[in-house]
Amino acid sequence: MQKNGTLWKDTDGADIQAHGGCILFHNGTYYWYGENKNAVTVKRRMDFIGFSCYTSKNLVDWKNEGLVFKAFKEPANHEAGIKCIGERPKVVYSKKLKKFVLWFHLDNMTYELRRAAWAISDSPVGPFEYMGSFKPNIRDCCDFTVFIDNDEKAYFICAGDMNKTMLIHEMDDTYTKFTGAYKAIFTDQAREAPVFYHVGDWYYSATSGCTGYSPNAMLYGTSEHIFGRWRLWDNPCMGRADYRKTFQGQSCNSLFANGRWYMMLDHWNPEDIRVSGYSILPVNFDGGYMEVLWEDEWNGIK
Ligand code: GAL
Repeated sequence: MQKNGTLWKDTDGADIQAHGGCILFHNGTYYWYGENKNAVTVKRRMDFIGFSCYTSKNLVDWKNEGLVFKAFKEPANHEAGIKCIGERPKVVYSKKLKKFVLWFHLDNMTYELRRAAWAISDSPVGPFEYMGSFKPNIRDCCDFTVFIDNDEKAYFICAGDMNKTMLIHEMDDTYTKFTGAYKAIFTDQAREAPVFYHVGDWYYSATSGCTGYSPNAMLYGTSEHIFGRWRLWDNPCMGRADYRKTFQGQSCNSLFANGRWYMMLDHWNPEDIRVSGYSILPVNFDGGYMEVLWEDEWNGIK
């Protein structure tokens, strides 16, 4: 059992360092990738360390597989070097290339670059080889997710235009390139930390407001098509008094397990980011309505 809202332990009893991440299921194993923040926080920032991977069969007991992508120590001005920001790693398996593709948000310490970066590996536990960075369709890219639809088409969905607008970019079937098709949604609504689902006739989004590591209200959105008329609704969180603050957390990514959908949350501690906690909560969908339910415990595979 892991206690939601707290810093989880791995199978060695050490703190899990996989913040802002994602869980990939591949050939019977779950792979959890996330930001390794195991350093001292200074003014809510720290050097870029890299991305960790943990493996599990039951989603509760996590074995540390180490850093699968490391920030470059040299040259000192490397665009993915230790003086950069690397956040929200998302790993997808490209059936076409038979490779694992790691995407992340690359930035400088003042969040002025706003680029997407990628790396590639033959193995889910790395090492991932750095491939470069760019602005998708020449637009800004901050918090993002890679959303794989039921037909296996992938979309790179990010906070763009200095976090004012959400952008849905279509990717090609290798999950490494952008087709050029994209759509801006939630214009000037300033949403970030996107999590997307496609359940029944509806697409659903969950996003946070833009208040950095401080919690705010999650809002959900719906559309009948991925490039359709998205509408932003209210807060889907329920079950605890601090539901208007996303249970002191922030949306992180979706997870499918036990035949249903869940949402991963980060519970950031801005003064000491390495002790930030995690939650995995059940999400219910009903004909265009969405709810995220608080539970004290995460018990993994049933
Ligand atoms: C949040 C964002 C996090 C991180 C943080 C830094 O808005 O969702 O991924 O960038 O700001 O303050």
